[in-house]
Amino acid sequence: MAKSVPPPGTSDITPEEVPTWRFLEDSARKIFSLYGYGELRTPIFEYTEVFQRGLGDETEVVKKEMYTFEDRGGRSLTLRPEGTAGVMRSLSGTDALNGVEHRVFYIGPMFRGERPAAGRRRQFHQIGVENAGKVSPELDAECISMLVHYLETIGITGFTLYINTRGVAADRPAAEEALRAHFAPHLAEMCDDCRERFERNIWRILDCKVEGCRKIIDTVPDPASFFSEESKQYFRKVCDTLTAMKIPFVVEPRLVRGLDYYVHTVFELTHPGLGAQTAIAGGGRYELLLPECSKPIQGVGFAAGMERLIMVREALGIPAVPMEHPRIFLVSMGEKALAFNAAFSAKLRRAGITTALELEMKSLKSQMRSADRVKAAYSVVVGDSELESGKVMLKNMADSSSREIALDIEAFKKELL
Ligand code: HAM
Repeated sequence: MAKSVPPPGTSDITPEEVPTWRFLEDSARKIFSLYGYGELRTPIFEYTEVFQRGLGDETEVVKKEMYTFEDRGGRSLTLRPEGTAGVMRSLSGTDALNGVEHRVFYIGPMFRGERPAAGRRRQFHQIGVENAGKVSPELDAECISMLVHYLETIGITGFTLYINTRGVAADRPAAEEALRAHFAPHLAEMCDDCRERFERNIWRILDCKVEGCRKIIDTVPDPASFFSEESKQYFRKVCDTLTAMKIPFVVEPRLVRGLDYYVHTVFELTHPGLGAQTAIAGGGRYELLLPECSKPIQGVGFAAGMERLIMVREALGIPAVPMEHPRIFLVSMGEKALAFNAAFSAKLRRAGITTALELEMKSLKSQMRSADRVKAAYSVVVGDSELESGKVMLKNMADSSSREIALDIEAFKKELL
């Protein structure tokens, strides 16, 4: 394999691509801070237990997808497959465990050993939000509305918001019994994975994408109809608040999400521009149990996959955010001019003007070609006569018009800033 190719499921993000990434990140910082969220940066690896306890031993992610290794001190560590558990590990040292609200967001790489495909990476990037400490349906709705606000800001339209309730632990046995009664007579027609899920975690069956299983899943009774009145009421309040906020949504009784920490509200946003991987973002309310914590930490949040946000923007025909091009290209005619330009470029850059030049003697033609290649907005040619007169012709590279200006920093600032 060529050395320039990174490991499967990972990608380089090139200088041409980074401006779009930064736009997504900067927009997130701007929007989330409007809602009082502060950025939290947690380590990229955690003790393996944080994910085993936090996400649940039975989740696909923990069972099959984690990058786990032992460090030199014999500790078992894992590259974070998602952000919530690490954020909660960090907040478990605060009063969030006693019901005090904390609002944080994070941006960064996550790692899952999945089979790589378009929109499914082994190193991918999430923009995520967690609201820890408080439990209220209005908070769940606000969290969803913030995600919608963010997507609008980055130009993403045409998504569908699916929501559902997972109830709380006490609601589950009755619903599980109904699920078991529904699936038991069909087990022979279902896939191997579903037969295993039937034994270990029956809810996961609702997630199955296999055609033959879907037919059976489609007629399943709504698990939420077996939940307590209190849980139903909680979900109604989330839906009513979203309706009052004029946020369209679809209640999807089969939406369970892939992580086991969820309670009450779960949601997922899909977009047709993504092909097979349809989720651009997902989240919900959770109760997350951490090693050495006597009780679970409560929260609500979501994460959006940055690679998928970019795929959707492309599918919608939104152009990539362009790289910053030089405002000015300094062309040097002769050794004296080259020395002058080397010093002058430093002054221009300190004044905040993006400047390009060749640092070795090249022909006029070759320097003009460079100015075109780097897409400079303007160019000036500096030679002995310009140095003598203190005047240069400022050439607009787009329309080839030129104007005489003084060869000093103040004149350049006036024209180029
Ligand atoms: P998740 O649904 O596993 O949730 O991931 C959230 C988003 O990350 C997905 O909707 C998708 O856009 C992106 N994503 C996940 N896996 C991959 C992958 N292999 N390649 C590319 N993109 C991917 C969570 O991670 C939860 N922690 C979200 C959350 C926060 N729930 C509560 N708070």
